[in-house]
Amino acid sequence: MKAAEIRSTFLKYFESKGHQIVASSPVVPGDDPTLLFTNAGMNQFKDVFLGFDKRPYTRATTSQKCIRAGGKHNDLENVGYTARHHTFFEMLGNFSFGDYFKHDALHYAWELLTEVFKLPKDKLWVTVYAEDDEAFDIWTKEIGVPVERCVRIGDNKGARYASDNFWMMGDTGPCGPCSEIFYDHGEDIAGGPPGSPDQDGDRYIEIWNNVFMQFNRRLDENGEYVMDKLPRPSVDTGMGLERIAAVLQHVHANYEIDLFVNLLAAAKRVVDEAGAGDCDKDSPSLKVIADHIRACAFTVADGVIPSNEGRGYVLRRIARRAIRHGYKLGARTSFFYKLVDALTEEMGSAYPELKQQQARVTEVLKHEEERFFQTIAHGMEILETALASLEQGKPLDGETAFKLHDTYGFPLDLTADVLRERGLTVDEAGFNAAMNRQREQARSAGKFKMAQGLEYTGTPTTFHGYEKLFVEGTKITGLYVDGSPVEVVRSGDDAVIVLDNTPFYAESGGQVGDAGSMQNATARFVVEDTIKIQADVFGHHGRVVEGELHVGDAVNARVDGNRRTATMRNHSATHLLHKALREVLGGHVQQKGSQVDAEKTRFDFAHNAPVSDAEIRKVEQIVNREILANAASQIRVMGIEDAQKTGAMMLFGEKYGESVRVVDIGSSRELCGGTHVGRAGDIGFVKVVAEGGVAAGVRRIEAVTGENAMNYLLERDASLDVVASSLKVPAAEVGTKLANVLDEVRALEKEIAALKSKLAGNQGDALVTKAIDLGGVKVLAATLEGADVPALREAVDKLRDKLGSAAVVLAAVNDGKVSLIAGVTANLTGKVKAGELVNFVAQQVGGKGGGRPDMAQAGGTNPAALAGALSGVKDWVAQKLA
Ligand code: ALA
Repeated sequence: MKAAEIRSTFLKYFESKGHQIVASSPVVPGDDPTLLFTNAGMNQFKDVFLGFDKRPYTRATTSQKCIRAGGKHNDLENVGYTARHHTFFEMLGNFSFGDYFKHDALHYAWELLTEVFKLPKDKLWVTVYAEDDEAFDIWTKEIGVPVERCVRIGDNKGARYASDNFWMMGDTGPCGPCSEIFYDHGEDIAGGPPGSPDQDGDRYIEIWNNVFMQFNRRLDENGEYVMDKLPRPSVDTGMGLERIAAVLQHVHANYEIDLFVNLLAAAKRVVDEAGAGDCDKDSPSLKVIADHIRACAFTVADGVIPSNEGRGYVLRRIARRAIRHGYKLGARTSFFYKLVDALTEEMGSAYPELKQQQARVTEVLKHEEERFFQTIAHGMEILETALASLEQGKPLDGETAFKLHDTYGFPLDLTADVLRERGLTVDEAGFNAAMNRQREQARSAGKFKMAQGLEYTGTPTTFHGYEKLFVEGTKITGLYVDGSPVEVVRSGDDAVIVLDNTPFYAESGGQVGDAGSMQNATARFVVEDTIKIQADVFGHHGRVVEGELHVGDAVNARVDGNRRTATMRNHSATHLLHKALREVLGGHVQQKGSQVDAEKTRFDFAHNAPVSDAEIRKVEQIVNREILANAASQIRVMGIEDAQKTGAMMLFGEKYGESVRVVDIGSSRELCGGTHVGRAGDIGFVKVVAEGGVAAGVRRIEAVTGENAMNYLLERDASLDVVASSLKVPAAEVGTKLANVLDEVRALEKEIAALKSKLAGNQGDALVTKAIDLGGVKVLAATLEGADVPALREAVDKLRDKLGSAAVVLAAVNDGKVSLIAGVTANLTGKVKAGELVNFVAQQVGGKGGGRPDMAQAGGTNPAALAGALSGVKDWVAQKLA
C-alpha cells in the first residue's frame, strides 16, 4: 500500500464509523501563542475538547501536518540517528468530542490494524497508563491481547524517548492518560519491548497513540499548574503515517517508504551537482536533508520566514542543519532549495498549499541558503581548528560555540550535531553564559536609550487618554533637564516632565507619542513628544515657554487634538489594511512592524513578492468599503485567555499582559493598546501611497488617511488637470493621448536623424571641391551646418575616400557647442596625426579631444573662434608635411 492509499484508507475507515473528515490545519497554529508549531492532530480541536467551541459533529478524523522541532515535542536531534523520527510528519487521527471513549477507541484501532491493514496480531504490543485498569481489561479481556504483551507504563523517568503514557500537547491544554500500540520489526533489529531498558532501539516502534482526554492543564492565579476535568471525556489518537507505511510496505525504516524514495534520490542528485560528485546514497545525511526539506517547505508555505526568534528561528535551525549535512557530503553551493520541486511533486496533490506557494517557498529557502553559504566554510574551519586542539574527552568550550553562533550563524544544535557525529559534546552552560553576557550588554545599552538615563522612583503615571484629551489639575512628580533630575524648570529650558495623571499617549505599539501643552496660571510648557521612562511612567518631552514649573505644581494638560485625531485615523486604518492584505495576499501576511503618526501609517509585513498595483487597488477598495459601512468600533478589556477565544489577531512572540484590549475596527479584530477612531467612517478615506521591500520576505506599504488622503488626491488631481489641459483632452483620455504623443515624438526623432545624415552627406559632396591641394595632398577644413557628431563622422569618412590622400577637419555648432571630427588617410598618418590635427583646432575653440591617428574627435565651447581656427589648418598641415 502506497502512503496515499494508507492515508485515504484510514480516513474512509473512520468515515464509515460516523466520523467527519476534516482538512489538516496549517503547521503554524492560528492564534495560539502557547504553541510553537502544530504538534498533533488534536491541536485544531483544542477548544472543542475544552468546551469553548462547538462543531456540527462529535466525531472527526484527519491527516494532520505536524512539526516536532521545538517546544514540548522536539525530535530534531533524533533525525538522522533513528529509523523513525522526523521534524515533519503526517499524523492520522480520530477524535471523539464527548462521544465514544476508551472502549470504542481501542476496538476501532484494533479492527483497523488487524482486519483492514491485516497486521499479524502477534507482532503487536500495547501499553496502558499504569493505573488504567479499564484500558488494561479492554485490551486483555475484550480484545484478547496476551497479558505479557500489554505493558503498564507510569512515570518513565530516565528513558530518553519513551513517553510516560500521559499525553500533553504542551505545558498547558487538554491532556490525559494514553495507550500506545507498538509493532515488532523483528529480532534482526536491536531494541527491547516497551517498558524494558532498551526500549529506545528501533525494533519495537510505536505506531499509534490513543489518548483518553480527561483534563485541562493550566496555570492558576498563583502560577501553579492545576488540572481541571474536561466537560466530557474525549478521545484523541495519532498514528504516524510514515511509521505505519514502513510496516505495511515491509521495510524497516521510515526513510525506505515510497514517500521518501524520490525525495532521497533528488537529494542525492542536487548534492552531487553542488560539488559532492557522487556521494554515498545510503548516507544518513541524505535522510536528514529529505526530512528537513519537508519541515522547511511546509513551514514557509504556512507563513514563517527564517529569522532569529520564535518560529522563524526554528525554521532557520532546521534549514541550516540540512545545509550543513549537504556541506558534509561535499556540496559547496546552494542545493537545498532545489528540493522544493521534488517535494511538491510528491506531496502537492495531498497538500495543495505546497503547489500554490511553490515559487515563494523556493525563493525564501534559496535566500536563506545563500546567506548561510557565505559563512559556513569559515565557520567549519574554525570548528575544525578548535576540535584539532581539543583535549581527549573534553567538551567543546562554550565561547567557541557562541562565536560560531554569533558570527557564523551556526545554531547551537548544528554545532552539537557535528560534535555528536564524532562522539563529542559541547559545553552548553558555557554557551548560555556567553549568550547571556552578550544579551545583558545589549539590554543595558537599550534600557539606557529608552529611559535616556532618567532615574525615577515616584508614583507611576495614570493614563486617561483613551477617554479624554484634557486633564485638569494634574501634579508634576518629576522634572529633568539634560538627563538629570531638577526641582524647577524655567522659561527656555528643554525639559522632561513626569505627571501623576496624563491624557498624553506615550509612544508604544508603533503609535507615536502625543504632543500638546500643559499650563497653569503662571507657566506654560509645550509638549513635543511623550515616551515611557518606565513601563508605567510617562515622560513628556518639550520646552518651557513661559514662567517656571516646580515638582509638586499642578498643571492642566491638553493633548493636541488634531494631531491625535490624525494619528488615530492612521492607526485604525492600519488594522483594516492588515486584514485586507491578508484577504488579498493570503494568511501568510503577518505584521512585522508598524509606525503610525499623524502623517501616515507605515506597515511592514511578511510577503515575498512586490504587491502589484491591482492588489493594492483591491486592498484600498476593501478598506474604503469598511469605512463607508461605518461600523462603531468596539474596545473590550479582558483576560488574555478570553481574548484568544475572540479570535483576535495576536502576534507570536509578543508579550501580552494578563489583561488585554481587544479592538474591533470594522470587521478587523486585533489586540492593541493604541488609540482608535469611534467609528470606521471617522477614518474618512485611505489611500496607499507607497509600496516597497525592506528585507528578504518583508514588504512595506505606506498609506494616508483623512485630510492627508484628501490633500494627496486633490494635488494629484490638480496635476492631472494641468497635463490634460496642455494635451487638450479630458483627464480620462490623458493616458491614450500621451502614448500617441510619445509615439509621434519617437517617429519625428527618427525622421530628423535620417534627414541630418542625408543633409550632411549632401554637404559633404559639395565640399570635395573646396579641398586645397598641397603637392598632391588634399586639405579640407569646413563647417557642416546642422550636423551632429555621427553625421560629421560619416561625412569625414566619405570625404577621405573621395579625396584619396587627405587631411580633413569638419566642424558643427549645436546649442553653442562646437563638435569636431578629423580624419587622415592612412598613407599620411606617419606625418599628420588626426588626434593632433583635431586638437590644433579644439585648443583654439576652448576644448580638447583625441582618438586614433586616422580618426579623432573633439569638442569646444567657443564657436566664435571656429572660423579662424579652421582657416589655420592649411598652414598647420603644410608644416607637418614639410
Ligand atoms: N495527540 C496524541 C499524540 O500526539 C495522539 O501522540
